[in-house]
Amino acid sequence: MQRLLPDPSRDVDPVRQYAGGRAPHEDRPWVMLNMVTSVDGAVSVEGRSGGLAGDADREVFHALRTFPDVILVGSGTVRAEGYGPPRASPADSAMREAHDAWPVARIAIVTGSASLDYGSALFSEPTSRPLLVTTANAPADRIAQAAEVADVAVAGEDSVDVSRALSALGELGARVVLCEGGPNLNGQLLAADVVDELCLTVSPLLVAGSGKRIVTGDALETPFGLELVHVLEDDGSLFLRYRRPAD
Ligand SMILES: NC(=O)c1ccc[n+]([C@@H]2O[C@H](COP(=O)([O-])OP(=O)(O)OC[C@H]3O[C@@H](n4cnc5c(N)ncnc54)[C@H](OP(=O)(O)O)[C@@H]3O)[C@@H](O)[C@H]2O)c1
Repeated sequence: MQRLLPDPSRDVDPVRQYAGGRAPHEDRPWVMLNMVTSVDGAVSVEGRSGGLAGDADREVFHALRTFPDVILVGSGTVRAEGYGPPRASPADSAMREAHDAWPVARIAIVTGSASLDYGSALFSEPTSRPLLVTTANAPADRIAQAAEVADVAVAGEDSVDVSRALSALGELGARVVLCEGGPNLNGQLLAADVVDELCLTVSPLLVAGSGKRIVTGDALETPFGLELVHVLEDDGSLFLRYRRPAD
């Protein structure tokens, strides 16, 4: 992997490239998004992101998981991508602790229906206890089922208020939250103005079709400006790190 911007350099280490520069806010953790897109802006092929990801993207995906205490994800993505438990080898944990993160990240799933496969490895073979972020009006029977294998946090009546959800994660001690999508959840985080960083892989593919963009939802009243931090490249894939410009 090479760095194109700033200061071109060959054979760079993704963990080092993405380390640093994150500090929690007074009322919430630092929020990063990580997404992969085709050149024509699709986030999935046949309903999953796997068709867009090459070896280097998988390397960056795991490198980025070094930094967050919590990996936040929408239930649509958990279902589509078949989420499993986060890595927890001694080497992974040592690397995470060296970057001030909890030894094992926790997966937090945003859901109103609480309709998830509680027998899947994410819940039945956990490396850390999953967390459901849900609503007061979620179906009680499913919440009871979830509570056997996950912690449950309520952050809204009929739908999850993402700002409340982030405050709750902050109260658990999370300093950095990595949102891995999907576009629906990303849109809510952007609308709530709580996105600090975007890590975007552009895969050298055109896929056409009706795949979503990295963010969906209502158009923002004011486009969200981004500051480019770095550009990495590997085998034609571009790895862009953006952040919210300093005020
Ligand atoms: N290319 C990439 O990097 C990437 C990354 C992630 C996902 N994807 C793709 O994106 C697609 C899934 O994305 P998506 O946008 O459809 O779904 P999503 O954002 O992952 O999840 C949306 C679902 O989460 C629950 N949810 C979200 N916000 C909520 C709120 N405020 N309150 C209550 N529940 C809430 C709702 O379902 P329930 O109420 O039923 O739980 C909602 O339908 C898949 O095709 C996946 O492969 C691509």
